[in-house]
Amino acid sequence: MSNYHIKHFEEYFQIYRKSVRDPESFWSEVAEEHFLWQKRWDNVLEWDFKKPEVKWFSNAKLNITQNCIDRHLQTKAERTALIFEPNDPNEAAQHITFRKLHEEVGKFANVLKEQGIQKGDRVCIYLPMIPDLVYSTLACARIGAIHSVVFAGFSAKALATRINDSECKMVITSDGGYRGEKTIDLKGIVDTSLETCPSVEKVLVAKRINSEISMKEGRDLWLAPLIDKASPDCPIEVMDAEDPLFILYTSGSTGKPKGMVHTTAGYMVYTAYTFKNVFQYREGDIFWCTADIGWITGHSYIVYGPLLNGATTVLFEGIPSYPDFGRFWQVIEKHKVTQFYTAPTAIRTLAKENLSYLDNHDLSSLKILGSVGEPINEEAWHWYNDNVGKKKSPIVDTWWQTETGGIMISPIAFSTPTKPTYATLPLPGVQVALMDEKGEEIKGNQVDGRLCIKFPWPSMARTIWGDHERYRTTYFDTFENKYFTGDGALRDEVGYYRITGRVDDIIIVSGHNLGTAPIEDAINEHPAVAESAIVGYPHDIKGNALYGFIILKEVGESRIHDNLRKEINQLITEHVGPIAKLDKIQFTVGLPKTRSGKIMRRILRKIACKDLTNMGDTSTLLNPEVVQSIIDTAL
Ligand code: WT7
Repeated sequence: MSNYHIKHFEEYFQIYRKSVRDPESFWSEVAEEHFLWQKRWDNVLEWDFKKPEVKWFSNAKLNITQNCIDRHLQTKAERTALIFEPNDPNEAAQHITFRKLHEEVGKFANVLKEQGIQKGDRVCIYLPMIPDLVYSTLACARIGAIHSVVFAGFSAKALATRINDSECKMVITSDGGYRGEKTIDLKGIVDTSLETCPSVEKVLVAKRINSEISMKEGRDLWLAPLIDKASPDCPIEVMDAEDPLFILYTSGSTGKPKGMVHTTAGYMVYTAYTFKNVFQYREGDIFWCTADIGWITGHSYIVYGPLLNGATTVLFEGIPSYPDFGRFWQVIEKHKVTQFYTAPTAIRTLAKENLSYLDNHDLSSLKILGSVGEPINEEAWHWYNDNVGKKKSPIVDTWWQTETGGIMISPIAFSTPTKPTYATLPLPGVQVALMDEKGEEIKGNQVDGRLCIKFPWPSMARTIWGDHERYRTTYFDTFENKYFTGDGALRDEVGYYRITGRVDDIIIVSGHNLGTAPIEDAINEHPAVAESAIVGYPHDIKGNALYGFIILKEVGESRIHDNLRKEINQLITEHVGPIAKLDKIQFTVGLPKTRSGKIMRRILRKIACKDLTNMGDTSTLLNPEVVQSIIDTAL
């Protein structure tokens, strides 16, 4: 029995038990068997959740790109590593072999070095889903620069906040990007951002849409001519196991986004391991994860996890609705995709469309379906299972987070019996606890509580960039000696887990993790707004939509015009991005507040959900009368 590849349910239990009984020998066996190391580790694990400090494979030396690329050159240089499927179905797809990937990453890495990037420097990558995004990410890793990929749907202000937080020295972008019928002016957004980003010395610009853009002398450089004259050979930088590999920003319930720091060895071992097992990757498989590389799902399961296993991974530039709602199915047919990994929001969107979009395509290549990003509702699960999987492809509902780096709770395809809406069982090495509000662990089955992890796993984020104290208070302060996920979960009669959703002020809209604070800050910038509070309410397609309760400075109907709603959403678009726009805006005279001045969102949530049966205890409110007036004017 190999620890690295679980093949049936019995084996899962044996391996899981071993991983809990002796995590160190478990992970060291996995690490030893399947990766290239420049130097072996001294200790497998050192940890203290109080500090908190976690080190895996300490003092080991390696480079993750050697593991993603170079080591496959002997056996599969001519195999396809990356299939690039463009936005426009009439533009030819590109099949990029491991040999070509090696060359492109090597050239890009040499360009970065020539432009002054050194080990430890932060490089912001703001690109559409094109091969340069993969090349630049891996090029950073090759020379030890820390990549910070920012999703290209974020606004100029959101981009600037992220660049400044980690003081990036360089931005890599393109002249623009395609998104369905639209183009996006990425370079223009970067230019606006950089007015407030003093740390950025150079901007590398890839050509994608051939638009007219302005190039700032001395700062901006076209990528192509630099790549053309760069050497494809770039020796690896030898990295320490705990050297940062990347920073990826995720929303916090308060304050600015959190730059989660992932380090090299643990992230490598865990993403490779989970990719192999959850998706049961076999040689020749074509894996397609529809996420954007700007999110952790793309980092771990478009780039690192698949390439570490020598797999073929699909990079899709487009959207599910262009040129029509058959696009996903057409891509699956065209590239004979074997594993398809997408989000419940996409499933719900497509389930609303006519089944002929699906039936027009041959999906017989599919073996395994995946879901990620938010709880999948029963209806969407069945639609996915019946129509896409034809009831023969297991659905792996994978629960995890930006912070966890890799999948934590999920079925193992073909081993774990699935159950609609359940993420099922923790993967090897993942020790789950459900906690009650008093901070006690809830034992036994058929219980629910707050989801915690009580033992380190290799790919956990090690800190928040520049703010270790925030890392401690956000994740390790609520429950002693445990990592708190921010989610609620229930455990059924056989021990399966179902994630019930966030228990903090984070709202997941179309799979995007949004903190209420930055959205409220954006709204409050409007000169007419005195105060605001955002909550989520159920939405058929997005999972949740945003409902804003807004107090205006001057009360009176005359102030409430439609433009005001538009202006508020415009501000949100500028500060956070269009994904954070409010679906409903209710102007109100007050917000329910506790005596300490905290907005009682629980009440607003009930009003937004039209659940007016029981408002709960409002006795601690400073202004209980305001509740009725909000109910009376609710939308
Ligand atoms: C939050 C993390 C990690 C992938 C993308 C999201 C929710 C994620 C599931 C799932 C129920 C899920 C949780 C989690 N979530 N996957 N399979 N079932 N909820 O990463 O942006 O860091 O969001 O997404 O609430 O805490 P993220």
